Amino acid sequence: MSIILALETSCDETAIAILRDGVVLASEIASQSVEHEKFGGVVPEVASRNHLIHAPRLLEKAIRDATIELRDVNAFAATSGPGLASSLMIGASIAKGLAIGFHKPYLAINHLEGHLLSPFFGSPEILPNVSLVVSGGHTMTVLVRAVGDYRIIGRTVDDAAGEAFDKVAKMLGLRYPGGPEIERHARGGNPTRFDLPRSMPDSENFSFSGLKTAVRYLLAKLPNSKREYAPANQDMTAEFLDNATMSDVCASFQQAIIDVLVTKTIAAARNAKVQLITVSGGVSSNAALRAEMENACQRAGFAFRCAEPRLCTDNAAMIAFAASQRLSAKTFSSVKEEIDPNLALVSN
Ligand code: KG4
Ligand code: ZN
Repeated sequence: MSIILALETSCDETAIAILRDGVVLASEIASQSVEHEKFGGVVPEVASRNHLIHAPRLLEKAIRDATIELRDVNAFAATSGPGLASSLMIGASIAKGLAIGFHKPYLAINHLEGHLLSPFFGSPEILPNVSLVVSGGHTMTVLVRAVGDYRIIGRTVDDAAGEAFDKVAKMLGLRYPGGPEIERHARGGNPTRFDLPRSMPDSENFSFSGLKTAVRYLLAKLPNSKREYAPANQDMTAEFLDNATMSDVCASFQQAIIDVLVTKTIAAARNAKVQLITVSGGVSSNAALRAEMENACQRAGFAFRCAEPRLCTDNAAMIAFAASQRLSAKTFSSVKEEIDPNLALVSN
């Protein structure tokens, strides 16, 4: 029996989870979106201060919910990158302190590996697959041959898909984070009303900044717009849009993103000759993306797997799950290992 306690503080979510033999005993998340919303994005210093405020409370609650004691934990894990340095430091310091204090192993986990393995949560083995990791910071397709054996196939050359959702939501005057807001407004909207670009169709890589700019120009042109063209560095709000137009803009934008993600992931899986496609990361909680990817997989003859929505956005259960794979392989980390804001996804 092994109990893992993991912390995830790579950005603005403070999360702590306890896993016993792959079963979640506790999974706590304190969202800071209200604190950051007024700034229109995450402010690093505000995030780390809030991690310090939330972590002790979440730790106590996780221990209580799991009905264990800290000395029962077999290994302490934390996200060590990529992410905001001042945020990563908080979770890693707490996990290291606990590991040292209780004489237990410390496991430094790559946030991307946490997302990448999350579709296998609760399953006994990691099968070879092509994985689309699609979040606020990353958009990449990865060939996963086994735990620790990763080859990046394609990645974004500019914005991540989640970043595009967040930036377009801001232009539309919607709340942060933008993905769930755009998904909500897109429901019932006409995804073909506005013709938005699908960038880099012949590349394995992704690009979403052109799409974002196209939405900006579209908003400036829409009838009844109270404003003239707004300079690129100036945020537009779209209170002037009627409900139907707002829905159609959101649906058309969301469809443009989904088309690109689905097409490139299927192509990557064909080239890599795998049988399974997985999707993870915050954007993969989008119901339309999940449905379209599943349909496309069915048509193209691939099996499909994605994590349940609460495991798609940042959480510590996925970090604990990745840590459980390391614990089985006895690949521990040194407490001297530093956090790395630019940590790459590499094979070990
Ligand atoms: O994985 P995540 O929680 O954090 C990062 O590692 O970046 O992903 C957050 C991103 C945000 O950009 C957010 O807008 C997006 O995921 N997101 C969504 C949805 N829920 C979250 N995007 C589209 N549809 C959603 N339902
Ligand atoms: Zn993430």
